[in-house]
Amino acid sequence: MAAGPVGPPVPCGSPAPRDIMSFDEALADPRGRHVRALSGRQGVSTVSDTIRTECFDETPTRVVSGQGALESSRACLAGMGIAKALIVCGENVAKLPEVDQFTRACHGCIGVELFSGAEPDPTDANVIEGGRIGREFGAEVVIGIGGGSSMDCAKAVAAEIGAPGWIASQDRPGEPTSIEHDVLPIVCVPTTAGTGSEVNPFSVITFAQTRRKLVLNHEALFPRCAVLDPKLLVSAPKSVRVAAGLDALTHAVESYVSKRATPETRMRAAEAIRGVAKFLARVAEDADDMQAQAGMQRAAMVASLSFAKTRLGIVHAMALPLSALFGVPHGVANAILLPHGMRFNVEADAEGFAAIAAALGVETDDMSTADAPSAAPEAVSALAAEVGASTTMGEVGVKADAIERMADDAMQSAHVQVNPREISREDVVAVYQAAM
Ligand SMILES: [Fe+2]
Repeated sequence: MAAGPVGPPVPCGSPAPRDIMSFDEALADPRGRHVRALSGRQGVSTVSDTIRTECFDETPTRVVSGQGALESSRACLAGMGIAKALIVCGENVAKLPEVDQFTRACHGCIGVELFSGAEPDPTDANVIEGGRIGREFGAEVVIGIGGGSSMDCAKAVAAEIGAPGWIASQDRPGEPTSIEHDVLPIVCVPTTAGTGSEVNPFSVITFAQTRRKLVLNHEALFPRCAVLDPKLLVSAPKSVRVAAGLDALTHAVESYVSKRATPETRMRAAEAIRGVAKFLARVAEDADDMQAQAGMQRAAMVASLSFAKTRLGIVHAMALPLSALFGVPHGVANAILLPHGMRFNVEADAEGFAAIAAALGVETDDMSTADAPSAAPEAVSALAAEVGASTTMGEVGVKADAIERMADDAMQSAHVQVNPREISREDVVAVYQAAM
């Protein structure tokens, strides 16, 4: 379990330039909503040529985005009066030069402790350890850097620091997450464009003893700030970029047709689908394509704004057992199941799937009302093939004799209830068989 002070400090240097002070204000504002000096619509504040802050109706999280956003964020930590920050990440992320540079730069201004023990599926043990380290260090803010797992771990650590033993009390399926103490401010810095955890109040934690994977959900777990710096996406291997991007696409598609969808959530989901259609193949091909990386980063973020309101559907319900029983990465499981889940759902929302097809770039204007919706799953299959995603469960080691067990597990998911078409256990078995 790696933890400890960071390397040699880098002096803070001259006072923060004006653009950094804007970000400072964003972090310091506990409401996370008010943006001063708005220059555009919907709370967008351009604070430099490359960096801007935004706020959204769906989340109290302030979003700071653009190349160099991570580097620019360090001075604000000192500016907001915070003396000690705990960085939570995984072992690989801790080795990234950008993260090393950031932690050393922070170390010149404030105290920084690094906890790099967030596992790919973070456990309650990770949370307890991170909480202990943060508490002993006297952390005043928790910064989660990494994919969804690191950010989810950071959220739970921020809660655990203030109440040792809190995480153990949350292992109770079906009951709402309970937080009755102060949670440290959370800053999330994603290094993949997929989960959108940086703007939502969810944290998925695996409880090692019971082997239960539970979704914590509480407004206190909303990050205060999300730092979207596309440079941090470059180091992820192609398979991770593809899986994360198709996870984001699955969020957007399932949210678009959810029973809980509203015009507002559909607007966000459609933006996300258009973004993935435009940029995923480019980031799969070239990790250094910064415009495409930024586009995927935004698509994943706005998909999260949508699904946080709507929940998901049959694909996420069915993907969970693939991960739990066979260790299939979440994004890979979704990528395999998405076209099949869409084909199952098309009859329940033809208009919605026609709109999804159009957002994916299909020319639907001359298509019949029957053909346009059916074009959506085919477009997803074509995109998945173009970016080299796995297409069958057999390819990733899933055994056909597990389908019955997986169907039982999938039917337990809350996502089943918001799927646009009623789902029976037999339906789930049939979709699994189609994906074998
Ligand atoms: Fe997902």
